Amino acid sequence: MAIKKLGVVGAGTMGAGIAQVGVQVGISVVIVDVDQKFVDRGVKGITGSWQKNAAKGKLTEEQVARYTANLKGSVKMDDLKDCDLVIEAIFENIDVKKKVFKELDGICAPGTVIASNTSALSITEIAAASGRPDRVVGMHFFNPVPVMKLVEVIPGEETSEATVNLAMEACLQLQKTPIKAAEAPGFIVNRLLVPYLNEACIAYGEGVGSAKDIDEAMKLGANMPIGPLALCDMVGLDVLLMVADYFHREFGDSKYRPALALKQKVRAGNLGMKTGKGFYDYTK
Ligand code: 3HC
Repeated sequence: MAIKKLGVVGAGTMGAGIAQVGVQVGISVVIVDVDQKFVDRGVKGITGSWQKNAAKGKLTEEQVARYTANLKGSVKMDDLKDCDLVIEAIFENIDVKKKVFKELDGICAPGTVIASNTSALSITEIAAASGRPDRVVGMHFFNPVPVMKLVEVIPGEETSEATVNLAMEACLQLQKTPIKAAEAPGFIVNRLLVPYLNEACIAYGEGVGSAKDIDEAMKLGANMPIGPLALCDMVGLDVLLMVADYFHREFGDSKYRPALALKQKVRAGNLGMKTGKGFYDYTK
């Protein structure tokens, strides 16, 4: 089934990225957040990106106008009621996600699939709270969504095959490459990536190298497109700490213990690019 109308819950970096891609492939998108200022910031980011691309000659003014008309920002969950697929991309708190899924179950048509963009949390647990566990699935996108090709599709314990197929097809419609990942903490990408990023934070904390040198080392010595600490800043240090903490708890293995340097930056409110400061200063 081709998606004609997509709902996105959460207008942060990931939600806005998903909404942007949806509109760009011709889908009408409604993006919802709890506060008008979050909605406005998300929508402004998306339209700003289109305007930049128009200035570079990559989009015409007509395209920008068409895209903008197909994007609706809202603070009302009810506006998601006639969507063919809803993707939740709020912050990583299992209790809040469960509440949102329960609410969506009362709003969306009975057959509608509701997906979570969670980076690590249990789809089964979110699905169990939803009231429609067979129609809940993980669709994990990567930052920046308009650029990154991969989506991990994660079935929960009760997710039906039809739901998985719909999610896989939706990824193709969004011009992404889907892969199926089992429900284990962090799925595939974050299972490998988060310990690597955490280790870079530990090395930084131990003074093995400056942030710049650690990043340069991995770019030039391992052909990474971006250094690990710059990537931490891009992902968000709070998101990273949440995932590292979750791994530590879930696996019960000290090898996943979050780096002190990471904890200290989060405690200081320095969460990376989004707050202007993390391992690097983005305010200058
Ligand atoms: N939104 C939209 N487009 C963007 C963008 C953004 N945020 N950032 C960059 N782009 C586009 C640029 O417009 C440019 O497009 P063009 O070639 O058509 O002009 C293109 O991407 C390349 O951008 P730049 O030349 O400015 O920058 P780089 O060459 O450094 O590439 C990058 C940017 C592709 C983001 C590169 O830095 C990279 O690969 N970074 C690593 C990204 C990554 O690993 N992401 C995964 C994070 S983990 C995650 O998301 C999981 C979560 O659960 C934690």
